[in-house]
Amino acid sequence: MRNAPRGDGWSRRQFILRGAATFGVAGFGLGGGLFARPRFDAYPFSLGVASGDPSADGFVLWTRIATAQSDAAFLPMQGYEVEWIVAEDERLRRVVRSGRGVARADAAHALHVELDGLAPDRWYWYQFRCGDAASPVGRTRTLPAAGASVARLRLALASCQHYEHGYYAAYRHMLGDDLDLVVHVGDYIYEGSWGPQVRRHESAEGASTLAGYRNRHACYKRDPDLQRAHAAYPWLVTWDDHEVSNDYAGLVSAYDEPSDTFAARRAAAYQAWCEHMPLRARTRATLRMYRRFAFGDLAAINLLDDRQYRAAHACAERGEMIDAGTCAELGSPARSLLGTAQQRWLDDGLARGDARWNVVAQQTLVAPFVSRDEAGAPRVWADGWDGYPAARAHLLGHVAERRIPNVVTLGGDVHAFYACDLKADFADPDSATIATEFVGTSISSQGDDHDARVRDLDLNPHVRAYDGRRRGYLRCDIGHDAWRSDFVALDDATDPRSAARKMRTFHVENGRAGVQT
Ligand SMILES: [Fe+2]
Repeated sequence: MRNAPRGDGWSRRQFILRGAATFGVAGFGLGGGLFARPRFDAYPFSLGVASGDPSADGFVLWTRIATAQSDAAFLPMQGYEVEWIVAEDERLRRVVRSGRGVARADAAHALHVELDGLAPDRWYWYQFRCGDAASPVGRTRTLPAAGASVARLRLALASCQHYEHGYYAAYRHMLGDDLDLVVHVGDYIYEGSWGPQVRRHESAEGASTLAGYRNRHACYKRDPDLQRAHAAYPWLVTWDDHEVSNDYAGLVSAYDEPSDTFAARRAAAYQAWCEHMPLRARTRATLRMYRRFAFGDLAAINLLDDRQYRAAHACAERGEMIDAGTCAELGSPARSLLGTAQQRWLDDGLARGDARWNVVAQQTLVAPFVSRDEAGAPRVWADGWDGYPAARAHLLGHVAERRIPNVVTLGGDVHAFYACDLKADFADPDSATIATEFVGTSISSQGDDHDARVRDLDLNPHVRAYDGRRRGYLRCDIGHDAWRSDFVALDDATDPRSAARKMRTFHVENGRAGVQT
């Protein structure tokens, strides 16, 4: 059994049972009972550890008891008592919190622990123990206190990590970046298979049931580079479509699944997602994935959910290229992308924002991208913001009207790097640039048609840079006076040991919207 070394803090610890962060061991509907001192014949922390959703005084810790064989079904139907500690040092000697929780069978033996009352703006280390086994040691941090003067924030933006298309060398390179946060904007798992296969999912069958989605999450979480990135940094995660099904919209399947069947499928996928991500209990209970994180006076990060509440596609079943000129329903103001409540929440948050940078981290490309079809006629992609032009006009109209400064949108989904000027009126290239956009390429999912996009750049002068050839991530180094974004590209995502290099660097100056090269 591969046991991680155990810090001294375990022997000296005193359990402090604090409020809702810990559980007693009785009365939790544990079905077959509770294993307080289980003996495993395989390492039970095979999915690693994770942390996320930091506040100024805490964060969420996550693990799941699962052995290497495969999935929850291999473990008996009872709960496991799991102990945890949080320390101020990486050797886990100065323990500041400890407790026990129950990894319940009805939660796939996942465990979430919410910490509070910790010091702001500092790193902590943590570890879980179950029976004789100790988890890898994870590292995480609290946010700076509200309004505190903060000089710097470094984050990596990740998206689109089809397991079969490549390896996660991108995550290995993030370990050397000295980040504060990893922000993942969706397509964390893929429900199905297509394209190149350098390795295989745990099953050739697509995920569509609770057991299937759980097994798919476990398959991804077993990747060692992904595990290390989760153990090294707190993550802010939101979802896109492939966590459920390609190009779904609200409760509408892109593949003619009857609505009640699809609703049950989506609920199963959401449940598995919540079980496997470091999310707070209220987020898991409400499925409200849009949330805000303040990094002192430097940045407010608005994390969005553009899948759960969106209207059905216009003039398309799914992400097809459509003719905006003839699709009458496309521009209907009734067709929302974010849903009314989230849009209002975002409007209010941006209008009230007093941080230097107003970050909107969401799924995909906000800027329009007009492509030519084979006959040379203009087409737009129905599944992105181009499929919801009224939603985009509302967001950018709000930024322009309220003169909200230093808005930077971050996105993924399109498997390519973009740096864009977001305009008050995209039809008029001379209109004011009111915000800045960066999109990160995919971690591993196969790229789009780079050459075709390059040919269409003349139709999209607000796109200041584009590159769809490489997999990798976007690295952002954010200061009071300037924002820097690097396109970090892998040489070859099909090689787990691939090198990475910085392809391009862009800046945004405080008070001046738009990309500077
Ligand atoms: Fe994707």
